[in-house]
Amino acid sequence: MRVLVTGGGGQLGRALARVGARGGHDVRALPRAGLDVTDAAAVAAALDVHRPAVVINAAAETAVDRAEARPDRAFAVNAIGADRVARACAARAVPLLHVSTDHVFDGLATRPYGEDAAVRPRSVYGRSKAAGEAAVRAAGGVVVRTSWLFSADGCGFVPAIVRAARRGDPLRAVVDHSGSPTAADDLARVLLALGDRRDLPAVLHVAGEPAVTRLALAQAVVDALAAAGAIAPVTVAPASAATWWAPAARPAYAALGGQRLRGLGLAPPPWRCALGRAVQTLARGR
Ligand SMILES: NC(=O)c1ccc[n+]([C@@H]2O[C@H](COP(=O)([O-])OP(=O)(O)OC[C@H]3O[C@@H](n4cnc5c(N)ncnc54)[C@H](OP(=O)(O)O)[C@@H]3O)[C@@H](O)[C@H]2O)c1
Repeated sequence: MRVLVTGGGGQLGRALARVGARGGHDVRALPRAGLDVTDAAAVAAALDVHRPAVVINAAAETAVDRAEARPDRAFAVNAIGADRVARACAARAVPLLHVSTDHVFDGLATRPYGEDAAVRPRSVYGRSKAAGEAAVRAAGGVVVRTSWLFSADGCGFVPAIVRAARRGDPLRAVVDHSGSPTAADDLARVLLALGDRRDLPAVLHVAGEPAVTRLALAQAVVDALAAAGAIAPVTVAPASAATWWAPAARPAYAALGGQRLRGLGLAPPPWRCALGRAVQTLARGR
């Protein structure tokens, strides 16, 4: 299957290229310099040149805190860019899988969010992604929401905990934020499996299981590091989100339910084994 990936230089874009190549797919993962999704003519030209069987829109402005100060940049990529990709795909009858986020929710739930839960973003980033979702749905594309992505070559929470633990810094993580850690490679595998399905709902959640707190995830990271012999066993201290100021609000509860994915015969990916592998790679590499 020929797959055109936007945002090909990002964490998920690289995972799609890696996993797709292993699976025998012809993945054209274009970084921002090769395809700017805010440029409608460039998007149209890329579709006409590559003639993909499916497009995966992994391009996004993901700096959640920076978006508060620069909403124009967040909306340009996450809303207008998504709209341009969706319209170009619709005009050519090319299926689109558009990647979105738990940040479209308010975080007040107590059970994993289903796909039909009300969208109530509390940050600029969340609002820009919600606007992108609406544009994609209007053009007939499929929205795939995920959460708490990690990989050995990413730059989020998991690599940050690994670096801090290896430096011997005191470790703290919040107990009152929960979510669904998701390995970028696992998400890539599911997206590629969905690529040639024509029975997809308009919105689908693909996120790892089980849901955990940030504290439990951080503890799983240091446990994996200790198991790899990279550090001595250590306990991560609990902290409250109230003591953790950041410009953008994060959903306190961000777990995404996997019922719809199960209905398609696919399982939400368990994250623990993938986390162990990512941590081992990080422990070897840096
Ligand atoms: N990371 C997470 O924890 C997480 C959680 C839930 C959902 N998601 C969603 O998952 C998707 C992939 O996230 P990720 O972790 O792979 O993010 P990422 O590493 O920041 O990758 C996003 C990529 O999009 C590129 N990009 C930015 N503006 C662009 C433009 N105008 N045209 C083309 N490409 C552009 C970026 O290029 P530059 O590097 O040049 O900026 C970057 O390479 C996003 O839709 C995100 O909202 C992520």
